[in-house]
Amino acid sequence: MKFNFFRPITLAFLLFSAATSSGQTTVPIPYALDGTTFDLTVQHGTSEIFPGIKTNTIGYNGSQLGPTLILKKGETVTLNVHNQLGDTTTVHWHGLHVAPHNDGSPHNPILPGETWSPSFEVKDHAATYWYHPHPHGKTLNQVVKGAAGFIIVRDDEEAALQLPRTYGVDDVPLVFQWKTFGTDKQIVEMDELDNEVLVNGVLRGATLNLPAQVVRLRLLNGSSHRYFDFGLSNNLIFNQIGSDGGLLDAPVSMSKLILSPGERAEILVDLTGKEGQSLTLKQFGSLLPQGYPGGMMMNMGGGNNMMGPLDDTDFDLMTISVTAPTANPVTNIPATLIANAPLSQTGATPRSLAMTAQPMMSMTNFYLNGLKFDMENINFTVEQGKTEVWTLTNQTMMAHPFHLHGNSFWVVSVGGSTPATNLLGRKDVITVPPMNGSVKIVVRYDDFSDSDIPYMYHCHILSHEDNGMMGQFIVKAAASGTVEKVENNLHFYPNPVSETVFFNLNNSLTESAFCNVYNALGQLVLQQTILISKGCGNIELGKLPIGSYAVQIQSGGKTYTGIFVKQ
Ligand code: C2O
Ligand code: CU
Ligand code: CU
Repeated sequence: MKFNFFRPITLAFLLFSAATSSGQTTVPIPYALDGTTFDLTVQHGTSEIFPGIKTNTIGYNGSQLGPTLILKKGETVTLNVHNQLGDTTTVHWHGLHVAPHNDGSPHNPILPGETWSPSFEVKDHAATYWYHPHPHGKTLNQVVKGAAGFIIVRDDEEAALQLPRTYGVDDVPLVFQWKTFGTDKQIVEMDELDNEVLVNGVLRGATLNLPAQVVRLRLLNGSSHRYFDFGLSNNLIFNQIGSDGGLLDAPVSMSKLILSPGERAEILVDLTGKEGQSLTLKQFGSLLPQGYPGGMMMNMGGGNNMMGPLDDTDFDLMTISVTAPTANPVTNIPATLIANAPLSQTGATPRSLAMTAQPMMSMTNFYLNGLKFDMENINFTVEQGKTEVWTLTNQTMMAHPFHLHGNSFWVVSVGGSTPATNLLGRKDVITVPPMNGSVKIVVRYDDFSDSDIPYMYHCHILSHEDNGMMGQFIVKAAASGTVEKVENNLHFYPNPVSETVFFNLNNSLTESAFCNVYNALGQLVLQQTILISKGCGNIELGKLPIGSYAVQIQSGGKTYTGIFVKQ
């Protein structure tokens, strides 16, 4: 391991000199590590977030956040993670295309005092990724205390472009985190009433010096719950060049950018000729669509009071103070970037995942296909090398950022329409809008089949994830011929339904089949043997209470699954 641009002494300087003589706080830049062997120690510490107060925090190689890991595509890296937390943790390399045993999911625990040393080839495209803990049921607790860091992947394709890439100078990682502080200014391990925002670990409103040229900001929403809608003062236009897992085809010019928890974006801001000026990067919470946490939530009727004090408001996140340009500044925004080749949907296996709440108005208790996460239960199997199209639907009153492990995906549609241009690159987090919002993604797992260790998919709102809004699947080796197929193309009509629900398996089978119906708590509420005639059949719902239900039908050696809502 060698230190890249900043030595530890410089880091100490940045952290301890954060309050300058004028009383202005500087946005600290995490120091960077590169090479092929990295050591990370996750540990407790204290941070002076509020003047004169020690807040208990967690960090990697320090008291809060962690070093930026700079990886090169094609290299094999080893990451030694030492756990000095006194509690079980994991480190998940969010967005990286790695095998399940290297992923840092709840299935790769690092016990207190132990070291975990995954080693893998970097197969990812140049982009901004991050790492954070992911222990079973405790992700929120460790992340909100400050455990998170950046990963920057570089590759030849990106290196060939005229883009700013001097770390900490014209290429700056910025993590924005909503937090809840108690009156004692300690971090409260919950996220529904977030009352502050930190930028790179310091309170909002700090200053970042940037040179008067084209600069690149790597934005990460590292919050547990809330969204950001970023914008610059005076509506200054900026250009998004990258999304979660790679560069876009071309820069997308915009004045506002929404990022969900877990999501990243790289933007270029043209500060040419602005030396001596200052501008602000702002949160425009009032512009977030209704139902997006951080904005205005749906009217809950019952006078639900879960909104945080800064929700639905606009405020400054940081001041950008423009300094003299550097020696060889980038002064142009390139017209094009890379040629993305999204996966084709032709012949893809369909799968559906429905987000539901119980009770239907709940803003805290959520399910995926009617089920809660269970470490022991594999939700489905994906075949290596086979393209799948996943339809994500949201039958709840709030937006959920859906995240997939192990691979990036392509967004095919949002609400049935072509996605916004800045969503057309490689993604690993996508927002499913509230109130029957839907998103289609296409994904394919070409590597890393593993018959034991699954990959996760979950809502990246960490309290939802910890409360079970997560599932897991196995990537199995390419077809051996006899394996049972799981199809998720079971569609019901009418839906919602009151008494009898009909389905069509779209095959010509006539046989008696076995049918299981699960309620939103994942409990088996109905078992029936039903007659299927030319692929069609019906289920009598009898006295089933109102709610959404997941159904499994075994027919013709396949398992079909789907969701209906009883009214
Ligand atoms: Cu960033 Cu499974 O999480
Ligand atoms: Cu992840
Ligand atoms: Cu959620």
